[in-house]
Amino acid sequence: MTEVGDKGPDTRVNEGREREGENRDNDVHKGKVGLARQVTLLGGTAIIVGTMIGSGIFASPVGVLRQTESVGMSLIIWLLCGVLSTFGALCYAELGTMIPKSGGEFPYLMDTYGAPIAFLFSWVSIILTRPSSISIIALTFADYAVQPFFPADECEPPVVVLKMMACICVILITFVNCFSVKAATNVQIIFTAAKLLALAIIIVTGFVKLGQGNTEYLDPRVSFKGSSSNVFAYGIAFYQGLWAYDGWNQLNFITEELINPYRNLPLGIVIGIPLVTVVYLLTNIAYFAVMSPDEMLTSSAVAVTFANRTLGPMAWIIPFFVCCSTFGAANGSLFSTGRLAYVAGREGHTIQILSMVHAGFITPLPALTFTSVLAIAMLIPNDFDTLVNYFSFASWIFYGLTAAAVVVLRIKHPEWRRPVKVPLVLSIVVAIVSIYLVIAPIIDAPEFGYLYASIFILSGLFFYYPLVYRGYSPRFMDHVTVFFQNLMQVAPSYYNPPEEDYN
Ligand code: ARG
Repeated sequence: MTEVGDKGPDTRVNEGREREGENRDNDVHKGKVGLARQVTLLGGTAIIVGTMIGSGIFASPVGVLRQTESVGMSLIIWLLCGVLSTFGALCYAELGTMIPKSGGEFPYLMDTYGAPIAFLFSWVSIILTRPSSISIIALTFADYAVQPFFPADECEPPVVVLKMMACICVILITFVNCFSVKAATNVQIIFTAAKLLALAIIIVTGFVKLGQGNTEYLDPRVSFKGSSSNVFAYGIAFYQGLWAYDGWNQLNFITEELINPYRNLPLGIVIGIPLVTVVYLLTNIAYFAVMSPDEMLTSSAVAVTFANRTLGPMAWIIPFFVCCSTFGAANGSLFSTGRLAYVAGREGHTIQILSMVHAGFITPLPALTFTSVLAIAMLIPNDFDTLVNYFSFASWIFYGLTAAAVVVLRIKHPEWRRPVKVPLVLSIVVAIVSIYLVIAPIIDAPEFGYLYASIFILSGLFFYYPLVYRGYSPRFMDHVTVFFQNLMQVAPSYYNPPEEDYN
């Protein structure tokens, strides 16, 4: 879809009327609304950190331990997940500053492999993985939010109460996000601070216990005993750990709203992901300073067991903070997924209404509402681990393809300007590891679910040909678009390239 330019990829909107550096107030944008650049470095870093830290660090340690079967190996998996996320995000820093469009992987896949692959990505992400991630996080929120009303040993909360609570969470964040970008980023910053505080409490408590001599499970002489010898089982361990790290690519979804993206995109990545890695490692060490591996495996909520053991009458603060953490992560996920649906709409890959922006609030209101409706629909009964495994399977196919895009674009377009240039080995490592990540869990425990997920991904092609390639749109869709346009007070949008030069 792009033409080779001497500076970088073509930055025209799909009608081809916008060129980088042109006066933005001219006739080209008449009647159109562009998203504003209002996200600062602090807001951007909070979007990364606050989406990465969500439910996973409070729930996944059990899944990682179950697969690796030893404390030592599970800590290594947590470290490797952090290294892999950092490598992946650095590749995305190169891509995001070279192609400064919102929508995460979508514009990069488009420029590298062409429209069909980009379409499959947006198809899977908009319809399946992204909304399901929001509902997994909202369900974890609900689980902790209703806890005070249903003491665990007396009665389990009814499923309908949990679903209602999760639904309320999604509706609340939808309101905030539709209403104002500033408000959504402020929510993100506040909740990120809250979750960092919660993890700091866990870490300090754990390290005090370590100082008192509770080191028996962490002693390297014993901590690797009994490690699983099944190489493929580690694939699932990675899935569980990588769920906690997922969100490392968040900032690439909102490049068009970031102030000075050439500086703030790479900086946000370089600050955010190592910070989360260190915090996660220390948190895991703290857990093992207080709990034996066997206790961890039988705990339904590690952080709560930890708090009950160590914080006495103050133990309630941990479930409270888990609510804050999941609420913030759901907010960040909706924020970015809305941008994906919006950009895909602008490129003609989804229905037109999704590419529109609210004329007063300057938010992609239709795309946000659409994502929330899907997320609410996906509050289906299912267990956390299974959902997370399918999420990771589908996601890593595209993370791998995108990381490989760094190499492909260096060959295909060596002349594009690259404000950030990463060593190619990072891209190769992420691409190879993602092949392992997609294949290993299937070899270890073949399940029809993976087959269904693959069929779903490929089935997107049936829609691609008539709807995108041939551009077929039934007549009534025009009426539908106008109806929603009036209802939601939204207008068509345009791509707003960065004004700053990267030097
Ligand atoms: N890491 C988050 C958690 O632990 C999940 C993030 C899901 N991914 C996303 N892009 N929304 O809950």
